[in-house]
Amino acid sequence: MRIYIEELDRYVSFVDRVAEVGWLLRVVERGTAFPVAIYGPEGCGKTTFLRYVSRRVSDLGDTVVVYVDALEQFDLEKALFSSHRGVLEVVGDLVSVPIGAGLAHAVMSIVSRLAKRFSLRGRNVVVIVDDVYRAIGLDDVDRYTKSLYEWIGFLHERYGVSNTAIILSTSEGVSKRILSRHTYVDVELLWNLPRDGFAELVEQLGPPPGVDAEELWMLTGGNPRALIEVARLGWNTRLWMDRVYEARVRRVLHTLERGRLGMLAEDPDSDWEMAEKLEELGLMIELRRSSTISRVPEPSPELGIGRDWAWQLPIYRQLVKQGLENTRP
Ligand SMILES: Nc1ncnc2c1ncn2[C@@H]1O[C@H](COP(=O)(O)OP(=O)(O)O)[C@@H](O)[C@H]1O
Ligand SMILES: [Mg+2]
Repeated sequence: MRIYIEELDRYVSFVDRVAEVGWLLRVVERGTAFPVAIYGPEGCGKTTFLRYVSRRVSDLGDTVVVYVDALEQFDLEKALFSSHRGVLEVVGDLVSVPIGAGLAHAVMSIVSRLAKRFSLRGRNVVVIVDDVYRAIGLDDVDRYTKSLYEWIGFLHERYGVSNTAIILSTSEGVSKRILSRHTYVDVELLWNLPRDGFAELVEQLGPPPGVDAEELWMLTGGNPRALIEVARLGWNTRLWMDRVYEARVRRVLHTLERGRLGMLAEDPDSDWEMAEKLEELGLMIELRRSSTISRVPEPSPELGIGRDWAWQLPIYRQLVKQGLENTRP
C-alpha cells in the first residue's frame, strides 16, 4: 500500500508491522470477546497501521470492515472506509457534523442497520475507530466502550454475525488509564517501528549523504512521524531538536520539579507519579510488556526505555537532560 505523506507531498510504501498485522488477522479469525484499545506513542503509526489493515482485511472475502477516523471533521470519504457498498446508504441520517465524531458515536448503529438490510449472517465484522477518545471526550470513555462491548453479543444473537472484532485507538494516557480499570476491554500497546522497518523508511525518504541513519534511530527511536519531521526540516537534526525543545520540553523544565525530571532522564522507572504526568503531556508512556501487539524493545538507557516506562522519543529524554544542565536555576 502506498501512503501519502502530506508534510513532504510524496508517497512511500508501507513498511513492516509484520507482527501487528499477524495479530490483527488472528483477531479477525477468532473475533474478540472484548473491544481492543490500542495505545502507543504519538506518531508511532497507529492510524497508518489501522488504515492498512482495514484494506488487508477487506480482501478476506467473508469479512466486512468499517473504519472510522473519529477526528476527521470535514470529509466523509476520509472519515469512513468500508468494504461494504451498503455502508453509505445506511449512514444516512445517523450522523450529524462534525463527521468523524458523529460516525464514532453511530458506528454500531451503522453496522446494525447494515446487518438488517443486507444480512451479515455468517460473516465476520471488523469495526475500527481511530482516535476515538479524543473525539468523543474523556467523560465518555467508560460508557462508550462498554456499549461497544455489549454490541458484540447483540450482533451475534440478533443478526447471526459470526465474529466481531472492535479495535479502537488512543494516543493519550488518561483514556488508557481509565480503560485499564475495566474488564470489558483489552488494552494493547503498539510501539514505534522496529529497527529494520525504520531503516527501510529512512531509505525510502532518501536523506542526503552525510545524514547518519544510526543518529536518526538514536534520536527518534523508530518513530515515523519524528523522522518525517526531520525530513521536512531538510534533515537538519539540530533545527529539529531546537523546535522539539521549544514546543515540548522547555515548558516542562519550568513547571515540573527539576530533580524528579532529572531522575527520570536517568532512569524512566524511577518515579511513577512524575512519569504519569509526563504521559499526560505525551512525553513518556507506560509499557505493558505482556499486553502488546508489537515487539517492545528491551530496556535501553540511551533510548530512554525502561522496563515499565519509556520516553516516547529518545530525544525527549536527551533534551530534558541537556535542558536541566543548561538552565540551572
Ligand atoms: N508502517 C509505516 N510505513 C510507512 N510510513 C508510516 C508507517 N507508519 C507510519 N508511517 C508514517 O508516519 C506518519 C505518522 O504515522 P501515524 O499513523 O499518523 O501515527 P499515529 O496515528 O500513531 O499518530 C504518517 O504520516 C505515516 O506516513
Ligand atoms: Mg493517528
